[in-house]
Amino acid sequence: MTLPDIEWLHLAVRWFHLIAGVAWIGSSFYFVWQDDSLVPAPDDPDADRLGGHVWMVHGGGFYHVRKYKVAPARLPDHLHWFKWEAYATWASGMALITLVYWLGAAAYLLPAGSPLAAWQGVAIGVASVVGSWIVYDLLCRSPLARHEGALAGAVLVLVAALAYGLSLLFTGRAMFIHVGAALGTIMVANVAMVIIPNQRRMVAALLKGEAPDPVWGQRGKQRSVHNTYFTLPVLFMMISNHYPITYSTRWNWLLLLAIGLIGAGVRRIFVLRHTGAAKAWMMPLAALAFVLLAVAATPARPPRQDAAEAGQSDFPAAPFPVVQAIIRARCTACHAEHPTMAGFEEPPQGVILQTPEQIVQRAELIEKMAVTTDAMPLGNATGMMPEERAILGRWIAAGAPPP
Ligand code: HEC
Repeated sequence: MTLPDIEWLHLAVRWFHLIAGVAWIGSSFYFVWQDDSLVPAPDDPDADRLGGHVWMVHGGGFYHVRKYKVAPARLPDHLHWFKWEAYATWASGMALITLVYWLGAAAYLLPAGSPLAAWQGVAIGVASVVGSWIVYDLLCRSPLARHEGALAGAVLVLVAALAYGLSLLFTGRAMFIHVGAALGTIMVANVAMVIIPNQRRMVAALLKGEAPDPVWGQRGKQRSVHNTYFTLPVLFMMISNHYPITYSTRWNWLLLLAIGLIGAGVRRIFVLRHTGAAKAWMMPLAALAFVLLAVAATPARPPRQDAAEAGQSDFPAAPFPVVQAIIRARCTACHAEHPTMAGFEEPPQGVILQTPEQIVQRAELIEKMAVTTDAMPLGNATGMMPEERAILGRWIAAGAPPP
């Protein structure tokens, strides 16, 4: 029996991570919606204790949810806590970052020519995740936290500093994932260290027959609101590695911030919509910001490529043998049936670039990964030069003619 490929483990962990994340974010959306949809319940027997109620219909059943201002007079025997979704998402996310970026540090975490050893890169990665939580938590406990705007500004500066700092040390895709992991860790730690403990204090007080301190609920609510705004930016960061147009640009850390802000803004609009305070222009404005960002982030193309596309003959497409020589020098160490690059057993993503047919067939993907962006060669492990990218670009612009 041969051992199955490690990719199966990656798949299992990623699948689990996605499912747990859907459960967590889904229930979080649901509770935010519910909080914003409560209406007063003056006829309820418990009216003076209630913050409001909401009626819902779903899947053929009617649901009636009542929210208490602080807590009910007597606790029910069965109380459901929402926490495993968050913990499972975090644990599987950490397993995934370990498998892909920390165990694969040489290929995925550190760019070619990095002065860092793999273990140093991993140590910085771990420190960035843990350190972000410590700084954020201190900010929330500082006097700054009395002013919502000031706290939001400070958190933004923290994220910007993290993104910029990591962009100097890590590959673009690793930087995006680490910022996402740091924010995700803050979200889970908010649940584990603040929201749940405060709920436990409230429950303990109730069991002793004392009135719970409303501050406990408020602190939990503050962190829970933060989590709401982190959600959409974090989800973007988690899928960003499919989009080299975002992470492999020169200003990638600014781009990450901008997309994060748009995500937080969209979340804000949704919250406002529930309370009826959203304006009709808000969503189109967010969409416009996204379009403008896409335009601003698109690099100017080398003039030669434009010339080739216009069919101008003084910039003829590079002859195929030159193209193939570049691919052989820069890509096939990994993208071959039997890669020679250490750490690669199989051609990554099944992409093989050895024969002319394989190269011609993949021309569009080659352009996406190695011409309009420098996502490939991974971490520029083979030292590809800009001139070589330009030659590939001219060949593709001329319609990727076969030999
Ligand atoms: C150091 C190894 C390495 C080198 C060298 C390398 N690649 Fe890759 N390539 C990878 C890995 C790893 C992936 C899979 C990335 C992932 O999992 O998202 C990949 C994926 C790809 C993909 C598939 C992307 C997709 O989304 O389907 C293409 C196309 C590609 N590489 C093209 C190139 C080209 C062109 C070159 C040379 C200019 C090159 N690669 C050099 C490691 C390498």
